[in-house]
Amino acid sequence: MKKKILVLGSTGKTGRRVAARLENNTEVKLRLGSRNEKIPFDWEKPETWQNVLKDIDTVYITFQPDLAVPFAAEAIENFTQLATKAGVQKIVLLSGRGEKEAQVCEETVKKNAKNWTIVRASWFNQNFSESFFLDPILYGIVALPRAEALEPFTDADDIADVVTAALLDEIHNGKTYDLTGPRLLTFKDAVNEIANASGRNISFQSLSLEEYVQMLKEYQIPDDHIWLVNYLFEQVLDGRNSSVTSDIEKVLGRKAKDFSVYAKETAKTGIWNPEN
Ligand SMILES: NC(=O)c1ccc[n+]([C@@H]2O[C@H](COP(=O)([O-])OP(=O)(O)OC[C@H]3O[C@@H](n4cnc5c(N)ncnc54)[C@H](OP(=O)(O)O)[C@@H]3O)[C@@H](O)[C@H]2O)c1
Repeated sequence: MKKKILVLGSTGKTGRRVAARLENNTEVKLRLGSRNEKIPFDWEKPETWQNVLKDIDTVYITFQPDLAVPFAAEAIENFTQLATKAGVQKIVLLSGRGEKEAQVCEETVKKNAKNWTIVRASWFNQNFSESFFLDPILYGIVALPRAEALEPFTDADDIADVVTAALLDEIHNGKTYDLTGPRLLTFKDAVNEIANASGRNISFQSLSLEEYVQMLKEYQIPDDHIWLVNYLFEQVLDGRNSSVTSDIEKVLGRKAKDFSVYAKETAKTGIWNPEN
């Protein structure tokens, strides 16, 4: 019998990659979870949840905007209860490494799901090419706080490979994986690697967290986004995640992708070329 898998955040950084890995699998019937699908899914509209869960046995949860936001715990509680009631047999949760609010949501999944796998990830490489760091890179000046913080940036392709394995294989049931890249880098190191790979001049400016928040306010970034960014820089980048793990290798039997490989591959797509 085919596995009927729902991928939430199916247009996002990991969801899109997980969906791509499952779409040609003849053993899988795939449903995409997005606000723009025929059966829409929206975290802010609980009335959409029941329909998207109909006839599904396995779910990949990526929460928006982040499991650390105040309404996440209640949404995860309600969604996972509903999923199990609707017949879902397994939930794979994407979680944030070192976020205590995310760990509350992990416990909720463990309590409510028949079977579960927790996949915790450190900061994604793809934040530099598919998310909030892309614009400053195109502009040529990246100004950030926590310049000294060492982060083991993880590649979304590796995360998607681990999540896909967890969705398809019961040997991952009841496991919590901590995913990191193979190397610790500062934001400045990461920006230098991108500058080298793309042949561009990109300068890095070190700011205090207060200066950074002020800059975001001046750019009229919405308050809830500023709250989240402040939380991530203040709490998660305080050194608690400055270590690498071997969980990607344990699950996949190969090494995690290094940031320099990501930078070279991504530079070839032209995404860091301001003329494109
Ligand atoms: N980025 C990181 O470095 C990182 C690290 C560790 C953990 N995480 C976790 O990964 C998760 C995803 O974060 P991300 O930043 O990488 O985002 P992302 O997966 O790239 O998410 C973007 C997608 O979220 C969907 N979305 C937005 N608002 C939604 C809503 N109200 N209801 C349903 N779907 C909605 C959008 O899909 P549609 O427009 O198609 O609806 C969009 O394509 C978060 O829980 C975060 O905590 C991220």
